[in-house]
Formats: sequence, structure tokens, C-alpha cells
Amino acid sequence: MTTSKASGAAASPTSSAGEAGRPRLISVRNAGRSRSTSARRRRRSSSIVLLLGLLATGVMWTVLAPGGNATETPDANEAVRQGRALFLQGCATCHGLNAQGSTEGPSLIGVGAAAVDFQMSTGRMPLAAPAAQADRKPPSYSETQIDQIAAYVQTLGGGTQVPELTEADLNDADLAEGGELFLANCAQCHQAAGAGAPLTYGKFAPSLSQATPEQVVEAMRTGPESMPVFGPGQINDDEAVAVAAYVRHLQDTPSPGGSSIGKYGPVPEGLVAWVIGIGALLGVCLWIGARQKL
Ligand code: HEC
Ligand code: HEC
Repeated sequence: MTTSKASGAAASPTSSAGEAGRPRLISVRNAGRSRSTSARRRRRSSSIVLLLGLLATGVMWTVLAPGGNATETPDANEAVRQGRALFLQGCATCHGLNAQGSTEGPSLIGVGAAAVDFQMSTGRMPLAAPAAQADRKPPSYSETQIDQIAAYVQTLGGGTQVPELTEADLNDADLAEGGELFLANCAQCHQAAGAGAPLTYGKFAPSLSQATPEQVVEAMRTGPESMPVFGPGQINDDEAVAVAAYVRHLQDTPSPGGSSIGKYGPVPEGLVAWVIGIGALLGVCLWIGARQKL
């Protein structure tokens, strides 16, 4: 159908060329001038017809072309297939051939794509060696590979999907509400400024200075290691975005009054004041004493 329309449009330049003979008959007297104008007119009209033809083809294409949805299913299956291959290579030794878990690592059935995305985008997984707690490090897989493994794990009994946060969502979020939720739910482990703090048995709540908003929401929803899960019943999706926006706000806020001294709060600040302040005073006393002896 598209082609017949296009060929119809392509045929019209010949018919308009036939019509263009008309002005030449009328103006026999100044034939030279009219020949050039009619040639120009012919050229112009044929280019207009060509443009219309192209436009029509474009419109027909957008209306009649098969939608993108048809190709989505094979793509998703392909991602899962690739993800399974990557999983068998890099994760199965600890998590089992079917992600059922082993003595080296927990089962991943039902943890969902969000857990995989969190663990892999923060570089915690693949774990290099057993330790009290997996550290954050640069990710060793590409984003595409992480998506593929996440897609594979998602097929094993579902679970939380990777959150989709937009810049607009974060900008519209209620920072004050995010701050309140953060102080009530997160600060006891991560500290009010998100600097992190040690927990028991060699474990620690890490600093939040590098976490992306997606990772903040994923951490809340999946509860990595000894962090509790904050489900939608406790912190709903809008509130979760507000917390993520607040964590980003903490990252962006420069320390008022000079060095943050690790943002550990009043105790190290006092310590620094005592050690440096009293040290300086002692220095001044010694200097005065030394001068008086002379
Ligand atoms: C050396 C062993 C080891 C390897 C290799 C490993 N993991 Fe893990 N994984 C663990 C252990 C142990 C834990 C639990 C401790 C923790 O979360 O720090 C864990 C936890 C996880 C979790 C969190 C589960 C939950 O309940 O939230 C995910 C997701 C995960 N691993 C995915 C992967 C993926 C994907 C790979 C491959 C790229 C991988 N792991 C490779 C040992 C391993
Ligand atoms: C009981 C203590 C505890 C509480 C409460 C807690 N966390 Fe955590 N959080 C942890 C621990 C422990 C880890 C490290 C997990 C790991 O390494 O697998 C962590 C990791 C994180 C990370 C990953 C940081 C990174 O850069 O890799 C983020 C983000 C995070 N928490 C956000 C939150 C938010 C937001 C809240 C409040 C809604 C919260 N946490 C409440 C203990 C806690």
C-alpha cells in the first residue's frame, strides 16, 4: 500500500510537466523569458511533488509500520539467556547452578532484579573472598551485563524490580519529609549526615556518600546484609524517592564551617578542638617561656 501511494506521487511530475506546456503557448511573444520561468516553475513544482511524496510515505510508514512491541519479547528472552550464561560463569560457584544457594552464598530465588542491580552496581558482587561483609568497590560487570543477570534472576520467582527514578521525580520530592524519614529510620546506623558507622562483629553501616538514588531505593527494598528491609508498607514509593533525594542532598551539601572531620558529629569535633587547640596553647606557653629565659 505504501509503495503504490509513493509510486503514484512519483508519477505526478510527468503530468505536471505536461501542464507546464500551457504558459509557453500563451506567451509566444516573449518566448525566451517564459521558457526560463516555466522551466523554473516546472523544477519547483516537481520538487514540491517529490516532497509531498516523501511526506506521504513517511506518514504511511508511521501509521502502518509494525510497532516496537513485537520485537520486545525475543529481546527479553535473549537478555535472560545471556544473563544465565554470565551467572553460570561468575556467580554459580557460590549461589548454586540454579541460584538455589550453597554453603558459600544464599539462594537468589525471589530476591528480584533490584537486589542483583544493587549488589552488582555497588561492586559488592561477585564476592571475591568470604568476609564479614561485602565492601563497595568499582563494579566488575558492565551495565548491560548487570541488566542481563538481573533479568535472569527476576525469572526465578520474581521479586522487587529495579526502581525507575527520573530527575523530575527527585527534584519534585519532599526533601523535608525525606529528612524526617532518614533521621527516624536510617540515621541510627548510617549517622545523621550519612557518614556511616561500625556495627557489631566486624560489620559496618557504610557511608552513603557514593550511593546513587537508585541504589538508595534498592537498599531500602532489598535490605542487604544486616540492613533491615523497608517495604512499601513502611516507606511507600513516594517516600522512598524523598529519602533518596535527601541522601543526594546530603552528598551535595558542603560542610558549613570548614572541614567536616569525617562528619562524625560533636565527639570528634570536640576531640579535634582539644588536641589542636590545647596543643597550640601549649606551644605558645613554651615559646613565651623560652623567650623569657633569654
Ligand atoms: C565467593 C562467593 C560469591 C560469589 C562468586 C558471588 N556471590 Fe553473591 N553473595 C555471596 C554471599 C556470601 C552473599 C551474602 C552476604 C552479603 O550479602 O554480603 C551474597 C549475596 C548476594 C545477593 C544478595 C541476596 C539478598 O538476599 O539480597 C545477591 C543479589 C548476589 N549475591 C548476587 C550475586 C551475583 C549476581 C553474582 C555473580 C556476578 C554473585 N552474587 C557472586 C557470595 C558470592
Ligand atoms: C541496622 C542498621 C541499618 C539501618 C537502620 C539502615 N541501614 Fe543501610 N546499610 C546497613 C548496612 C550494614 C549496609 C551494608 C550492606 C552490605 O554491605 O551488604 C547498608 C547499606 C546501605 C546502602 C549502600 C551504600 C553503598 O554505597 O553501597 C544504602 C544506600 C543504604 N544502606 C541506605 C539506607 C537507608 C536509606 C536507610 C533508611 C531507610 C538505611 N540504609 C537503614 C545498615 C543499616
